[in-house]
Amino acid sequence: PTPVRVALLGCGTVGSEVARLLTEEAAEFTARAGAPVELAGIAVRRPDKHPELPADLLTSDVEGLIASDVDVVVELVGGIEPARSWLLTALRSGKSVVTANKALLADCSRELSEAADASGADLYYEAAVAGAIPLVRPLRESLAGDRITRVMGIVNGTTNYILSAMDSTGAGYVDTLEEASNLGYAEADPTADVDGYDAASKAAILASLAFHTRIAASDVYREGIGSVSAADVAAAKMIGRTVKLLAICERVVGPDGSESVSVRVHPVMIPRSHQLAGVGGAFNAVYVEADGAGELMFFGQGAGGAPTASAVLGDLVDVARNRAGGGRGPRESAHAGLGVRPMGET
Ligand code: NDP
Ligand code: HSE
Repeated sequence: PTPVRVALLGCGTVGSEVARLLTEEAAEFTARAGAPVELAGIAVRRPDKHPELPADLLTSDVEGLIASDVDVVVELVGGIEPARSWLLTALRSGKSVVTANKALLADCSRELSEAADASGADLYYEAAVAGAIPLVRPLRESLAGDRITRVMGIVNGTTNYILSAMDSTGAGYVDTLEEASNLGYAEADPTADVDGYDAASKAAILASLAFHTRIAASDVYREGIGSVSAADVAAAKMIGRTVKLLAICERVVGPDGSESVSVRVHPVMIPRSHQLAGVGGAFNAVYVEADGAGELMFFGQGAGGAPTASAVLGDLVDVARNRAGGGRGPRESAHAGLGVRPMGET
């Protein structure tokens, strides 16, 4: 079979793990995908800082790599621009995209999925929400025939790591943030984590999938953990509670029967007996409630190189199978005419 050639953009915490596994387990990926999955090039900002990578694959010329003879672009750089332009170029030229970039998806998913639909390319982003936990696929595919009423949980590993440490050891906020960064959990700019922007992006993606609508990060009410003090955490503990940063996406029915979607991210004091109270470290946990399925809970490692690479590589195998078999992966809802809008929007 014809090889599936992969351009990897970004080789940091997540990208380095993807590159390692693709190289060391090439035979496995070939067997799983039904065609050789070849790493055709790796684009980074500073190639001289990566002596560990094969020099013949390394480049800083991202546009050149995308324009070369590659079938799939795996984007693990982050941020809106230039990632948006790179991925639109790739999709418009029929190259499939796998990305973990929640900030970009939360703002530009319409543009990206329209470009994918127009060219017949795949757009996969399981790693964008909750690291290793399969959540995008269940919402996009498995539960597409059900009526979801609520998606709620912990979707940011860094803040959960900080709040868990504050709760269990009384550790300070600044030290634990540094630890979370060193462990590869935090964003390049960790204010995205602590101020709730990262969780808001993820909430927007989850709500869009769950309610077949388009929710942008700017539609999400957002409060981070900056205002949560050691005294707050200690006080919560004294009354049998703990503080968690939750993302809550709910279908709301108004007095006239019309439906809208409320999406918010903020710290919540939850009883210590609640299952979410036991979710520590950089773990994430998300409940989904649907009319038919009832309550589902998704739990696992929400951040870090290896867990996130697991989700990226799962997408890559799917995309490679589609390429090898001449098909295309799951499409999203048309997101039109469903009448479910963010609360407050007219
Ligand atoms: P890192 O900061 O560790 O790595 C970013 C990589 O992108 C680096 O290799 C960097 O190059 C490269 N890069 C940055 N700017 C450019 C540019 N202009 N041109 C070419 N390359 C560039 O990020 P992460 O691996 O942590 O995250 C990557 C993506 O995955 C982000 O979207 C993030 O939100 C997402 N994500 C991260 C998770 C995690 O736990 N870390 C979990 C889930 C998603 P260089 O090495 O030369 O600096
Ligand atoms: N910075 C993110 C987090 C990475 O801490 O959850 C995973 O998306």
